[in-house]
Amino acid sequence: MSGLYSEDILDQVARANDIVEVVSGYFPLKRAGKDYAALCPFHAEKTPSFTVSPSKQIFKCFGCGRGGSVFNFVMAKENVTFPEAVRILADRAGIELKRDPDGEKRAGARKKLRDVLAWATRHFVAGLKHPKAGAHGREYLEGRGITQTAIDRFQIGYAPDGWDNLIKSGGREGIRPEMLETAGLLVRRDGGSGWYDRFRGRVIFPILDPLSRPIGFGGRALGDAEPKYLNSPETPLFHKGQALYGLPQARDAIQADRRVVVVEGYFDVIMPHQMGFGGIVATLGTALTDEHIRALRRYADEVVIVFDNDLAGRAGADRGMELFLAHDVRILMTVVPDGKDPCDFCAEHGAEAFRARINEAQDAFKYKWDLVQADLEAATNPAAQRRALEAMLSSVLSAPSLAQQDLRLQRDLILGHMSRTLGIPEATLRSTFSRLRRSSRRSAAGTEVGSNLPETATRGRRWVKERELLTALVCRPSWLDDARQAVPPDRIEASALRRLYEALLENPSRRDGDIESIVRGFDDTALASLAVDLFETGEAVEACRQEADTGPGPLRLKLEEALGALKEMEYEADLAARSRAARENETDDARALRDFAEARARRQGFLPPSARRRGFTET
Ligand code: UTP
Ligand code: MN
Repeated sequence: MSGLYSEDILDQVARANDIVEVVSGYFPLKRAGKDYAALCPFHAEKTPSFTVSPSKQIFKCFGCGRGGSVFNFVMAKENVTFPEAVRILADRAGIELKRDPDGEKRAGARKKLRDVLAWATRHFVAGLKHPKAGAHGREYLEGRGITQTAIDRFQIGYAPDGWDNLIKSGGREGIRPEMLETAGLLVRRDGGSGWYDRFRGRVIFPILDPLSRPIGFGGRALGDAEPKYLNSPETPLFHKGQALYGLPQARDAIQADRRVVVVEGYFDVIMPHQMGFGGIVATLGTALTDEHIRALRRYADEVVIVFDNDLAGRAGADRGMELFLAHDVRILMTVVPDGKDPCDFCAEHGAEAFRARINEAQDAFKYKWDLVQADLEAATNPAAQRRALEAMLSSVLSAPSLAQQDLRLQRDLILGHMSRTLGIPEATLRSTFSRLRRSSRRSAAGTEVGSNLPETATRGRRWVKERELLTALVCRPSWLDDARQAVPPDRIEASALRRLYEALLENPSRRDGDIESIVRGFDDTALASLAVDLFETGEAVEACRQEADTGPGPLRLKLEEALGALKEMEYEADLAARSRAARENETDDARALRDFAEARARRQGFLPPSARRRGFTET
């Protein structure tokens, strides 16, 4: 994961940059026992919950949950990528960075891929300009009112009809089809021999990274061909969940306003832009992800999400609150009126009307609150008001980012914000919140079955066990091989925990009890924070070990118990699915019953009851 730099170099840079010294270079730290404390630089607070441990060489905020190595700190503080943080710290310590030869090779392959994508962009742009072959594309764009200036600024191109225009043209430049395939530009023929062009008879929108380098393409059909839009597949450079269309073109306007508008479509970016509203980007057929927000957070303090219609707005409301809770950024939402999208709206009413609409966007909390109230018929009587408040707070409690953190510490931040945006006294919010929190914790513990409380509650036992498993593994990576054989990462349901598991398996420098060596290579701040969080929990568990205790120790027992429980749950789920199938499909009765019997037999071979009691050791 650490990419360009070898483990040796990273080790050297880490050792030369004591985390206490580095952090003290930004703001003063106060001694607190064996650690140091300060007000957290990553969220607003009045009492210090940001701590730095000189012995473990990590930082951790008990308020916002952020934590990690000295590299993660610099990444967060300077808003830079992992390699950039390494460079900053190497400079600070006067270390000359030598690159890892494998990293060089990988970087070489990426460079080639970039060159091919840049070439393809020029090829499509030339395709649109071609007097004969480009005519249909030009007519289409003209028909949609796109100006030549916008065509140039967004490097819009055209791929004429035909199965092998790109293949042939690449061949003339010495670009091999395998390379074009890796770039996502060709599709392999069924049967495996040969390729054909992915984009045919489509207007092409190059998707650029923040440094204006093409990473993928979107293609709009001219007529009613399906699909209407075709995007590049995932490639080593193109990830739909991270890419944002129009970002480099929008950056200056975003930075000037410290505000970014996020829309759904390519034309929804281009039309407002050409009419003078520039700070606008689009996701590529996905909802906004944490990666998107992290990318935008470098330029903006406010993110305005624009939906095409009320239904989409409704679906996006909880996501908006989640993003606010997980990131230090204001999230606002609005819907374009009359079921229009931003492109149509701008074309009809102009950029100023669009700007006015954006200025009226509502805080995500207020947006959700209005929806909840509308559902409860304006909630005029006290009972309905109370139900509205509970529904609202339940959505907050169910945000995944909160489930991982100590809610008591997040509470003031959330309730303060809600009180200000909704105009509800903080005391009212506080008592409702505490009551809901208590009952959600009770049901998480399994005493309240079938409650309609949020996901934190229903997340339940599986999530708890997955968390325990990862807690043990973060503390003792030497157990990874045992664990992987019993429950491999692809069986972990919680995505953050699964990613952590995969990252641990990938990381060669992991050492038992040394969290710094683990998170050092993580270029994902959220992942590093989660790892540190689990590590602290695990340390506390292991600290319960008695002096005289010579057994496997509390952490090892937790690991074995978690693995056993997860396998057991998988078995139960499998069994339930099979008996459901047997019930639903009477005609296939016999087959389902046979499956059922097989599953039972497998279970007996797979986990004898005695082994289950002892733990996960499977034969
Ligand atoms: P829309 O259908 O709203 O696109 O889909 P649009 O930009 O308004 O389309 P027209 O050209 O004005 O009719 C919004 C976005 O969803 C993705 C694309 O990123 C598109 O811009 N999408 C849509 C696809 O990936 N594939 C599709 O078939 C449709
Ligand atoms: Mn649209």
